Order: sequence, then structure tokens, then C-alpha cells
Amino acid sequence: TPPQQIRNFCIIAHIDHGKSTLADRMLQITEVVQPRDMRAQYLDRMDIERERGITIKSQAVRMPWALGEGKEQESFILNMIDTPGHVDFTYEVSRSLAACEGAVLLVDAAQGIEAQTLANLYLAMENDLTIIPVLNKIDLPAAQPEKYAEEIAGLIGCEPEDVLKVSGKTGEGVAELLDVIVEQVPAPEGDADAPARAMIFDSVYDTYRGVVTYVRVVDGQLSPREKIQMMSTGATHELLEIGVISPEPKPTKGLGVGETGYLITGVKDVRQSKVGDTVTAQNRPAEEPIGGYKDPAPMVFSGLYPIDGSDYPVLRDALDKLKLNDAALVYEPETSVALGFGFRVGFLGMLHLEIVRERLEREFNLELISTMPNVVYTVTMEDGAEIVVTNPSEFPAGKVRSITEPVVKATILAPSEFIGSIMELCQSRRGTLGGMDYLSEERVEMRYTLPLAEIVFDFFDHLKSRTKGYASFEYSEAGHQEADLVKVDILLQGDQVDAFSSVVHKDKAYAYGVEMAGKLKELIPRQQFEVPIQAAVGSRIIARETIRAIRKDVLSKCYGGDISRKRKLLEKQKEGKKRMKMVGTVEIPQEAFIAALSQD
Ligand code: GTP
Repeated sequence: TPPQQIRNFCIIAHIDHGKSTLADRMLQITEVVQPRDMRAQYLDRMDIERERGITIKSQAVRMPWALGEGKEQESFILNMIDTPGHVDFTYEVSRSLAACEGAVLLVDAAQGIEAQTLANLYLAMENDLTIIPVLNKIDLPAAQPEKYAEEIAGLIGCEPEDVLKVSGKTGEGVAELLDVIVEQVPAPEGDADAPARAMIFDSVYDTYRGVVTYVRVVDGQLSPREKIQMMSTGATHELLEIGVISPEPKPTKGLGVGETGYLITGVKDVRQSKVGDTVTAQNRPAEEPIGGYKDPAPMVFSGLYPIDGSDYPVLRDALDKLKLNDAALVYEPETSVALGFGFRVGFLGMLHLEIVRERLEREFNLELISTMPNVVYTVTMEDGAEIVVTNPSEFPAGKVRSITEPVVKATILAPSEFIGSIMELCQSRRGTLGGMDYLSEERVEMRYTLPLAEIVFDFFDHLKSRTKGYASFEYSEAGHQEADLVKVDILLQGDQVDAFSSVVHKDKAYAYGVEMAGKLKELIPRQQFEVPIQAAVGSRIIARETIRAIRKDVLSKCYGGDISRKRKLLEKQKEGKKRMKMVGTVEIPQEAFIAALSQD
């Protein structure tokens, strides 16, 4: 297809504003999916995605669309590139935006714009995409299209009348939207005679076909059977198949300038086909890769341990398998005094962590304990040595010159009545206010710089409860800053329990110590001797609790001499011991670990 007849676009929307429903309707109206094959959310394939209603992986779908009536009908190819909607996957979002010339800004007409949408809108604007503002769900009785059209117009600098109004549910306005996409989104530009350059905006592992790589061709062209080269690594592969998705994969004779589609090379590991990388032809390679490539950097680490120690090999194999379709997943073996053999695993964020954990438990039947998640710290020692800490228990002792932690730029959108309450929350999380703008009289956008460690776990829950659920929140990485951090250790009878060590801000160390010691006192059963629980910073004890001793004599319950009953009891007690972990001389039931490590 000549580039003049191609339009590449994506849909930017907040979760639940109806992106998948609209995408389904477009597939139907363009007759890419026949009505009898239609099922809700055609594009979300993974089960977990469907259950959670979130889109993790992006894909490109090709749809034909004709403009005008009768003879002067002109046909076009629309490529819809699906963008993931969650903060953990910002880099993937940025790459799918880079594959487009236009973006549909989809806003729920009963909700208005949300922080997530705003962040992605700014990203789209930075990438010079043409923005098509659309209000969705106009069929809802609660829709206020006029009000929100004003808000959007103010934000992107257009007239309120220019904001399209559609319903993904009824299909109203969707055909008009497709016309507007053809009319307003620029055709792709590129040099058809130049050496081939295609950008990878997604790659997924398929059990039968190996890695399926989604690309957008910028220059030249790619053809089946030719040798391609990955520009970041120089690795070469044979192009076994190349094609388009419409809505199932269809092999083609190649992809040219401006086209999007998929490649199959037979590689088995998504790390060999990295999002953001440039694909070129081996016999005539391009000189410069397409800009913007970044290696995925894990932001949050957690220890994963099998509850049943003998499951360790199963966990290792499971991680090896998951890694094939998750380039951002990193892990290495780790041992814990308290938890045994496991892995320290790096994630893009908390959602990524939850997804991986859920897949390990569901697809591999594993029962896991995960330790308290932490961010990555860089510690500079007095002698200049730099130590990167991904596990709090490895936080160095000795003379520390400085410590840095990752920070993020956060955007919060909320009704203006909650400004005070939000400021209070952000302050308690060591945030600094960067700026504030009113979107309308009632709605305000607040910009904060916050330490990642302070927001990654429960910030959004607190924000929601303080704003009656009206606030939305989004963040992106913003480098590192120095911080006054200390490691708090938890000791049982003087022995450090590594799984409970945590790096916290100096001002919060005491509160953390008291809370952890209190929690453990509740959770650890009394032993035959007294057990002191201490929280310590270095050698300084900052909190202490004591579990009083009991004399546990199971046999005292058996009067008389019923030997078989006694034996049974002793055996039962032995069974119970299996699920106990020994820390020094203290027995801790598995459940206590799980309960103490779970966040509430
Ligand atoms: P994520 O995949 O989580 O990002 O959500 P999404 O933006 O794709 O939203 P989805 O299409 O799943 O729609 C969210 C909810 O809104 C669903 O319950 C839809 O049935 C409903 N919905 C979507 N479009 C419309 C619409 O035009 N009108 C009405 N009344 N409901 C809609």
C-alpha cells in the first residue's frame, strides 16, 4: 500500500473509558471482524488481561476504510496500534506512540479527563502526533458532553465543537470518527529507497511460533526470507514470515514505508527482539537506528520464595519460561536465612509484580512468599566505592558518604476541594510540589516530585480514600535524588531476620521498627523461652517487644497411659514443625512470615 493511503493511529484513554469497546466497534464497522465472530474485547488476548480488564500488550490491527460515496470512493488502510494503559508500561506506551502519526484522545463523557490520559496525551504531543479529541459513552444518561468538551478544548487548544462525540456501545459516531482519522492524521513519510529501518513496538512469545515481533516500517522495505539484523545487538535472523494482523495474522509479500505488521524469525526469547530496537536488512544495513531505544529497567525488587522448599526447581523453570515473553523481568538466585532458597526478582512496578506472581501461582501451581518490595538504592561509601542495593539486607554497613533513591514526577488530577488533603498526603510522603493548574473551576492538576519508594506501594489507595475516589494519579521516572536513608533490621533473640530488613527514611525508621516489632509479637507463637523482638538501626536498638515464655507440654493433655494416643500427638506435632522455619533458636510458622510481609 502506498504511504499516502495509510493512517497509523492509537487510542489514548484512561482505564474503563471504553477503549476496547470502541476498538471492537471499529473492527465491526470496517468489517474486519464478521458479526458472528465478534466477542467482547477481541483484542485483549491474555486471560489475565481479560479478567482484570487491562491491556498489557499492544498490537496493531489493519482495517480498510473508504472515504466518500459511490465513484469517487477512495480506499485507505487504517492501522490501529493498541497502547498499554498502565504506568508500569510507560516505555511500551512511548514506543507504540512513536509508531503512529495520530492519536484518538478518548474521554468518558461522564467522567472527564484523568491523570493517566493526560500523561499519555503529553507524550503524544511531544511525539508530534495529531490529536483527535473524542468524548465516548454519550449514550449514558450521566454524560455531560458539553462540559467536558470545554475542558478538553481548553487543554489541547481546539474549539469545543471540534470534539467528536461517540458511543462505542451503540456505534453512534464511530464511522464519522474513522472519516476524521483519514482526513486529519498525516500519512506516514519515509524513504522507500533507503536501507530498511523498522521500529519494534512490541514483541510477544507464542508457544507455537516463537517470538512474534510487531514493527512499524520507517524506511525501505522488509521481505520474507531475507536476513534481518537487530541494530542494538547486531544479531541476525532469517525472516521466516512477515505479515499483517487483520484481525488474525496474515502473511504478506513484505512490509513497506509506513506499514505496520508482524515478523517471525523463530527466535524463542523476547530479549532477542527488544521493544524500541531497530530492525534492518543484513545485506544493506541502515547506518543509524531509529531514536529512542532504551533497555527496560526494573524499578521494584522483591524476593520470591516457594512456601514448600522442594518447589524451588519448579520456580526456577517457571521464571525461565516467563522470561521468554517478558523482556523486563530480571531475577537471580538468593538465599534467605528465614525463607530458604528463592529469587530476587526485578519488576517495572507493582502491577508488573502482581501479574508475574499471579502467573507463577496460576500457570505453574506454585505457592509463593514475596518479601516486602523495595526500590533500588545507590550507596556511595566514604572511600568512593559505589554499591547498588536491590536487597535491603545487603545494604552496606560502615561509613556511608551518600545514598540516592529513584524519584518520579507525578501528576494528580482531582476536584479542587481536595487540594489541602492531597498536599498533606504528598508532604507526608516527602513530596515537593512542582506546580498546579486549574483545568476548570472545579478540577485541578497538581504536579509533584516524589520518591518512588513512597508511592509505589499504597500511595494511590491513600489518595483515593482522601478524595472519595475522585483523584487520578500518574507518574513517570525522573532520575535519582540524595536522601537520608537508613536500614532497619529486625532481630529475634539477637539474630537478624533478613526478610524483614527494610530501607526507610531516617524520620520513619522509628515508626517502621515499632510497627514491625508489634506485628511480629502478635504473629509469632510463644516459645519455651522468652523471645525478645528488636528493631535496630546499625547497633542502635530503636524498638523492643517481648514474647513471654510458655512451657508447652503436649502430653499433659493425655491422662493415663494411652500410648497410641500419645504417639499420635507427638507425630502431629512433628507435622506442624515442618511448616515452621527456624531462625536461630526461634520457630516461626510460615503463616507469620506471610502475614508480616503482606502490606495492609
Ligand atoms: P481497559 O482495557 O481497562 O483500559 O478499559 P477500556 O478503556 O478498554 O474500557 P472497556 O472498553 O473495557 O469499557 C469499560 C466499561 O465501559 C465496560 O463496562 C463497557 O461496557 C463500558 N462502555 C464502553 N463504551 C461504552 C459506551 O459507549 N457507552 C456505555 N454506556 N458504556 C460503555
